[in-house]
Amino acid sequence: MTSNIKLATIIGFLFSLIGLNHLSAQTVWIDQLDLSTVTQGYGMPGKNKSVDGKVLTIGGKTFERGFGTHAESSLFILLNKKAIDFTAQVGIDDEVIGHEPAAEFVVYGDGRKLWSSGVMRLGDAAKLCSVPLAGVEKIELAVTDGGNGNYYDHADWANAKFQAIDVNTFITTNPVASKPYILTPPPSAKPRINGASVFGVRPGSPFLFRVPATGVRPMSFSAAGLPSGLKIDSKTGIITGKLSKAGTSIVTLVAKNAEGKSEKKLRIVCGSQIALTPPMGWNSWNCFAGEVSAEKVRRAAEAMVKSGLINHGWNYINIDDYWQNNRDSKDQTLRGMFRDKAGNIVPNSRFGNMKVLADYVHGLGLKIGIYSSPGPWTCGGCAGSYGHEKQDAQSYAKWGFDYLKYDWCSYGGVINGMPDNDPHKVSSLSFQGGDNLPIAVKPYKLMGEYLRQQPRDIVYSLCQYGMSDVWTWGGSIGGNSWRTTNDITDAWASVRNIVLAQDKAAAWAKPGNWNDPDMLVIGTVGWGDPHPSRLKPDEQYLHFSLWCLFSAPLLIGCDMEKFDDFTLNLLTNDEVIAIDQDPLGKEATCVQSIGDLRIYVKELEDGSHAVGFCNFGLETVDLSYKDFDKLGITGQQMVRDLWRQKNIGSINTSNDELKLKVPVHGVLLYKFISKK
Ligand code: GLA
Repeated sequence: MTSNIKLATIIGFLFSLIGLNHLSAQTVWIDQLDLSTVTQGYGMPGKNKSVDGKVLTIGGKTFERGFGTHAESSLFILLNKKAIDFTAQVGIDDEVIGHEPAAEFVVYGDGRKLWSSGVMRLGDAAKLCSVPLAGVEKIELAVTDGGNGNYYDHADWANAKFQAIDVNTFITTNPVASKPYILTPPPSAKPRINGASVFGVRPGSPFLFRVPATGVRPMSFSAAGLPSGLKIDSKTGIITGKLSKAGTSIVTLVAKNAEGKSEKKLRIVCGSQIALTPPMGWNSWNCFAGEVSAEKVRRAAEAMVKSGLINHGWNYINIDDYWQNNRDSKDQTLRGMFRDKAGNIVPNSRFGNMKVLADYVHGLGLKIGIYSSPGPWTCGGCAGSYGHEKQDAQSYAKWGFDYLKYDWCSYGGVINGMPDNDPHKVSSLSFQGGDNLPIAVKPYKLMGEYLRQQPRDIVYSLCQYGMSDVWTWGGSIGGNSWRTTNDITDAWASVRNIVLAQDKAAAWAKPGNWNDPDMLVIGTVGWGDPHPSRLKPDEQYLHFSLWCLFSAPLLIGCDMEKFDDFTLNLLTNDEVIAIDQDPLGKEATCVQSIGDLRIYVKELEDGSHAVGFCNFGLETVDLSYKDFDKLGITGQQMVRDLWRQKNIGSINTSNDELKLKVPVHGVLLYKFISKK
């Protein structure tokens, strides 16, 4: 017998042992499969291409075939025990030259780790992955972030292929359900006043509060007990005016229509603190990025009204980067003087007169936000506030802005004595000094002081990605919210990693001071390349529920003119929003984990508890729950499903069990209301 025949005999014998008795190995290339089921941290899966659509290239070597992806990435393939082996050449794609990616390639078979590449970096030669698969039902090809975040982790499974007994049975799959489903019941025709029940304002600042109410129109509004200096427009429900003295007033808001009447108490607290509940609104970055314009902002404001979101308490329209002139852009609409002769910041020609825009947005009963950096340049290379902080705060106030997002960006260059640094290099400079407390605090304290000197209330949103444990000092320098992490993307791994990093900051959340895990990645997002959020429906329910449990600022990052029913439904559940807007201002933490089920509990002002049963795993969680004491919930309780707005029933926490069925990457958001 030749050695080949011997080998075939041995393999044949092995296959006969596992029930595959005909040996006719065929090849299935990974690019022959449907890759649309891939979950990945950025971009779209590349067939025979990198994630940026280029030729697959690892360590200087090109490959014709394979799968280009981005950490964190996961591809499940059902093999039906028909595979013999899997082979590939794996590595980081050369297209990210100039960055510092690190990623690990891992192959799982039926949940067991079968092979791992170890951490791979840019320039490493491709590693051979060769995994025997006899008897394996399901394989997962995963790429993890290598321990330093998933920035620029462009990962290639080059020459990826299976030897198989039957090539026709391989199916790619994804355990997370992909069909959108609606949970929030439609609002009643009768009036219902929604939104926050407390509102903070400083003495002497212009007051603007629009009563958010659902129900058929026409509707008329009134407010009993309004302190002097304030008045309500009975047609629009907009309360305006000015309070001269500090103090608290309890006002009864009333909304009436042909179907009935609704009343709600609003506590108006005139004092030093604003943003007594987390800001709710929209921000231009995640949808328009560098393409934002006054026209788009105006249309976003109109969409917030037309879509009815305004009736659920959504009220900020925030302009992010690119309203200023840009240092390098070839786009003429972004070219022009950064500041006038007196040093005042000059908006770019897409924006022109900022006051006109602010007045328009205010006229709709909404508020408006703006963006800058303490460095000389914003993250996108537009003019920042460095050296002009006072003037900029004055400009924002003069134009009528109500909110400032202040983004670290090029400030690292200032620290390093390079205030004129190249905005393209800011990413590598941006963190330098950010971990040194006095240095990190200084620019935020400065702008905080100037904002407070303005004759209007400007919510101060710090954006420095959580450096120097910003939650421990952000409130003391006048910050109303602070980003706790780096930028979110519409990828499950991004949302999951942000969620897992929140608990450490939770104790610092309180009225006026909010941890900000970044914007909502739901609806049509895309940073200038619009696409539906790649989060699956259950992941979006989980994302929104957790942001509410966290008392996070709720900032919609999608194009509001492109709302689909699912997204609109997700954003208009008043019982869920009420968890975010609860006046006690506590932030939920994970108080118990059962396998991949993480249970988050938030204490509410009325003594009840909001509980999120969050499934981070890849199997449905099906269990009878009874550890209520671990959640701090005791006695007789009414359990209410907040997404469905339905009581589930009354339970005695010492004897009863609660049946839970939580979908993969999904949530059950319940309220436990104590029955006295
Ligand atoms: C940073 C911020 C983003 C956005 C961009 C604008 O990345 O974290 O939220 O503001 O800058 O350039």
